Amino acid sequence: MLDIKITRAETLKQKPADNVLGFGKYFTDHMFMMDYTEGQGWHDARIVPYAPISLEPSAMVFHYAQEMFEGLKAYRTSDGTIQLFRPDRNIARMNNTARRLCIPQIPAEDALCAIKTLVDYESDWVPHSEGTSLYIRPFVIATDAMLGVHPAHNYIFMIILSPVGSYYAGGLDPVKIFVEKEYVRAVKGGTGQAKCGGNYAASLIGQDKAEKYGCEQVLWLDGVHHKYVDEVGSMNVFFVIDGEVVTPELTDGNILPGVTRMSCLDLLRSWGMKVTERKVTAQELFDAHAAGKLDEAFGTGTAAVISPIGELVDEEHDIVINGGKIGAISQRLYDELTGIQWGKREAPEGWIVKVK
Ligand code: COI
Repeated sequence: MLDIKITRAETLKQKPADNVLGFGKYFTDHMFMMDYTEGQGWHDARIVPYAPISLEPSAMVFHYAQEMFEGLKAYRTSDGTIQLFRPDRNIARMNNTARRLCIPQIPAEDALCAIKTLVDYESDWVPHSEGTSLYIRPFVIATDAMLGVHPAHNYIFMIILSPVGSYYAGGLDPVKIFVEKEYVRAVKGGTGQAKCGGNYAASLIGQDKAEKYGCEQVLWLDGVHHKYVDEVGSMNVFFVIDGEVVTPELTDGNILPGVTRMSCLDLLRSWGMKVTERKVTAQELFDAHAAGKLDEAFGTGTAAVISPIGELVDEEHDIVINGGKIGAISQRLYDELTGIQWGKREAPEGWIVKVK
């Protein structure tokens, strides 16, 4: 069990009302920190007041982006308990990312203990209204004051917490997505399957372009052919084509293995639906739409939950999917998933971890 020293903030913040939360705008009173020093390992686990941290301007994270992060949520159930959704999957992914970024592994039991202890300590910050939760953002940064390009010897592991509502301003309203054919997010052998800031930095130019087309996010295509669908900016993506649920396969290592993606696949299969993980081209989507066979499209993610896609746009196309409304499969997944997360529906074994 991790030994966590706690320093309480002298003054506590006023909590925002649930109806103004949005996503990632407010932060709780405390945060978790733990240092890594080569030769010593991870040490000095602590909960301290949420505050700016001090780093050398030469700290490696600022120059070479040796950094990784995760995202998961804590939910308040109707009986007042607070629970996490599949934290073991986030922690496993965090250590896969760490391997790719040459960051030292964090023992899974220590990571879970840190998350649970901080969420428990800040439990008053878990919002009460339907659809709200406490977003948990663990991250690691390389802190060596050094400009040589090689893996760092010193790191900080931190966890910050943010009470959140919907990721998109429109909540469950279908979003409009831009199919990006010029820029790419990831290539085979790159960091696409890792959750690191660099992937998101590289995506910003596409996001900016998407917004100019009036779209909320980008649909990224593969980095070699600019043809196969990878994922959307902050979510994995699913399509229902002629009654079959299809999502891009993970085999090339350029797609983030989403915990919500994995959970949707499990649920869909448990419902006896035909689900295929395979390559999908953007052209197949436009063709299926022309043939009246693109029944639904939706994104999945911790932040986005289930987000119906109502419109797909590129320089030549602008198609409306399912009349711009949420489809039956997207709605069923949303209801089941959120029902499990907020403790209203029975969870498959091991999916829910109680904080207290
Ligand atoms: C999440 O869904 O937790 C994410 O990390 C997406 C994020 C980039 C907003």
